[in-house]
This record gives sequence, C-alpha cells and structure tokens, in this order.
Amino acid sequence: MIATLEEKTEVIGKGDFMPLNGTDYLELYVGNAKQAAHFYKTAFGFQSLAYAGLETGIRDRESYVVVQDKIRLILTSPLRSGSEIGQHIDRHGDGVKVIALWVDDATYAYEAAMKRGAKSYMKPKIEEDSDGRVVRSGIYTYGETVHIFVERKDYHGIFLPGYKKWETPDYNPAPVGLKYVDHMVGNVELGKMDYWVDFYERVMGFVNILSFDDNDISTEYTALMSKVMSNGNGRIKFPINEPAEGKKKSQVDEYLEFYEGEGVQHIAVATDDIIQTVRNLKSRGVEFLRVPYTYYDAVTDRVGKIDEDIEPLRELGILVDRDDEGYLLQIFTKPIEPRPTMFFEIIQRKGANSFGKGNFKALFEAIEREQELRGTL
Ligand code: FE2
Repeated sequence: MIATLEEKTEVIGKGDFMPLNGTDYLELYVGNAKQAAHFYKTAFGFQSLAYAGLETGIRDRESYVVVQDKIRLILTSPLRSGSEIGQHIDRHGDGVKVIALWVDDATYAYEAAMKRGAKSYMKPKIEEDSDGRVVRSGIYTYGETVHIFVERKDYHGIFLPGYKKWETPDYNPAPVGLKYVDHMVGNVELGKMDYWVDFYERVMGFVNILSFDDNDISTEYTALMSKVMSNGNGRIKFPINEPAEGKKKSQVDEYLEFYEGEGVQHIAVATDDIIQTVRNLKSRGVEFLRVPYTYYDAVTDRVGKIDEDIEPLRELGILVDRDDEGYLLQIFTKPIEPRPTMFFEIIQRKGANSFGKGNFKALFEAIEREQELRGTL
C-alpha cells in the first residue's frame, strides 16, 4: 500500500497537466458488430444509441453504439477484407481497440502527451455536423490499444458527428443497473509492467496508487504482479498486470498467448446494487466465475461487518474485499469471446475507493479451474 487515493489525488491535483473528465467511450473491434450489439443489449442491458455505416456514408466499416448510464460501447466491424480493423480482429480476436477519454481540450491533451514521449495514433481532428463540432486526437498505449481524447463541449448530437440515432422500437431489453466504467485492466508482457507504469506517470500524469507483488497474488501454481495507476481526480483507474514466475502458466500468460500480445484484460463496470444486477445478468445468460461455497464461511472475519446478507452473495458467487476506507463487492464474468481473453467485472463500492487483495487467491484458483478445462494451465 503506497498511499490512499485521496492523499495521492491531493498531491497530483495541484499540478495535473492532463485533466481527464472521465471515460468517454470504449471501442471494440469485433467480427460481427451487428450480432455483438444484440448481445450487449440482450445479455448486459445496454440500450441502442447510434449507428454509422453504409447508410450514413461510411464505406469501410459498420459501427453500433450502445449505452447504459455513463457507459458507451462502440462495436465496429470492417465491411471489406484487408483493413486495419480486420487485421486487428484476425490477430487478437474481438477486443478493445480504443479507450476514449473525455477532455476539455483534445489538442492540448495530444500535445502534452506527445511532448512527454507518446506515440501518435491520430493528430487532432475536427469533426462537424449540424449538431456541432468534436475534436478528437489519439495516442498509442500497450499493444495495439489506443487512447483517444474526445473534446465534445461544442457538440449536442446523439454521439459523434457521422453517427445517426439508432432506434430499435421493437426490441429494447431493460438495463441491468450498470452505471460507469470503474477501471480497465491491461495485461502486458513479462518485465513490461514498470515500463507502462512509467508511461502513465510520465506521459499521462497518472500516479501509482497501489501495488501487488507475486506474494500478494499467487496460488500454489501461478502468480502475477499488478500496479494500479490513477489519474489526478481518481475517475480513471488502469491496473497493469504482468505475469510472474510460477509452477504453471498464469492467466496473464494465457491471455498474452491467445490475444497474441498486450491488451485490455477486463472492463470493470459499477452498479449500485450488485445482487440485483448479477441476478439479472445471470437470468440473461451471462456466465460468471464461481468461487467455492466455503469462501463465505470466513468472509466477515476477513472484511468485517457488511450491509448485505451473506446468503445471496454465496448463492451468486459475489466476492467481498476491503481497503483502508471501506469495502467492495465484485464478481467476474467468464471470457465473452471464443479466445480466453477479455472479460467483464461487476463492482459495487461501499466506501472502498481502491482495491483489496483478499480475493486474489480464491479468484485465481477459480480461473485455474477454467484454465485446466481449456488445457492452458
Ligand atoms: Fe478489476
């Protein structure tokens, strides 16, 4: 434990050269955007928001945008072979290409990052339509993943210029209570965690608020290391994982092998009522990792008194952990694509602004049981 988030935020808040308002959107490159959009609506309760493709004058790709409270996902597929998007999907499978960050000034953010050594993905670009103007710019982060800075203060349209409203009057499953992106975790190559920690400090003005070494995160067979990076106001948190030496192949190694490189491991989304949200997701077919029922026998000894009854947590497999400030409830889905790569976390914070380490062992043993079934342990 290095310092509380508040202490860190206080230090950096004074000289934050990269003010970020929040996560703007996440863009996933997927094999079939139309079906993926249906999946995110049906299984995860996202709502139809916007569309771009042939009907809007876009010739090379089709994108569906779905929304749930503050979370916006763009699902994009190429319309022809040989595209950069197609190559990304061929290499990585479905996965996150863009983590877009909402800023007041996308030109300034780009220049500040470039001055500090970022690699350019997209120079500041003005996009306009009858609803106003948006400025976007972008830089590379780990693997082929990019950050796009989005300046939208002069825009009043449904999403971004070039998109039209996507209306689906006959099919709109209800939301499940997902509210915002809490954090996004990147898996990087062995020995590269500190490189990317340095990148987020130097280029983006983030601070390392928490570190877990292989003693914190290990089972009998596998281990990994993780450092949590946070921006100045604490709204953006990026834990960075790297594999550590173990008797068997860790989940990070498995990810790197199947994603064929570094990338986003999981997207954590927040809810105000995890029991209700997880019940709902399960009834819609979302599959979660399961810890043993015995995990719950000692849970209050470990985390202290909690508001929730243990029984529904045990029934659903929701994990409980704590930091210095409070506790949190979390659960992880199984990977949501054929490759054992990206998955989702559902999280509810009850005072804890950071992360605990009490769940790692139980969780990783659950993942190892899945790896065993896949023959990748
Ligand atoms: Fe997480």
